[in-house]
Amino acid sequence: MKLTYLSHSCFTLETSTHRLIIDPFLTGNPLAQTKPEDVACDFILVTHGHEDHLGDAVAIARRTGATIVSNYETAMFCAGQGVKAHPMQIGGARQFPFGRLKLTIAHHSSSNSTPQGFAYLGNPAGMLITADGKTVYHAGDTGLFLDMKLIGELNKIDVALLPIGDNFTMGPEDAARAVEFLNARLAVPMHYNTFDVIEVDPQRFADSARHGVRIMKIGESIEI
Ligand code: NI
Ligand code: MN
Repeated sequence: MKLTYLSHSCFTLETSTHRLIIDPFLTGNPLAQTKPEDVACDFILVTHGHEDHLGDAVAIARRTGATIVSNYETAMFCAGQGVKAHPMQIGGARQFPFGRLKLTIAHHSSSNSTPQGFAYLGNPAGMLITADGKTVYHAGDTGLFLDMKLIGELNKIDVALLPIGDNFTMGPEDAARAVEFLNARLAVPMHYNTFDVIEVDPQRFADSARHGVRIMKIGESIEI
């Protein structure tokens, strides 16, 4: 399966049968080099409702017919805008046409603004995506938590996508500890340098982690 970094927490995954995009924040993202109208996908995975994650999900779903998969409230928020959405909840797994998806905990919040004010959009999540015999863990936005050890025990994680930008999520040293807890074969930093408040040198993460870290360039792809 092919993993491509589009900046912030947005990645695409191309399995042998399907195209996925995770947290498609492209419009308003100063680092993004991809336009939402150029995204081709079958499924859109959204970790939580914040605009830097939900982003262009509804517009992409509307144009492509892709299904949005997220927590119940975020999925219903999208479905209410006339697109296909599948709700899940933390701890639940499901076999999709592309493979298996399981939602994990994430210590964070989840909301989005509407003309009526803030809508609270359920619990934020991480996502374990298993396809073509490989498992990718996208942590979403989260602080460090000890249950990452359990996630690592129960799953053989090939690639862990971890936020390192600090302030809203783990910083580089906590993320390095997460790599250890998860026992991930490879870790890729995300959610940094998009805005001043999350400016971090990813080398700090690479230097702190014991396991392999791959700092992906924006637009770069790796084969998992
Ligand atoms: Ni967030
Ligand atoms: Mn975020």
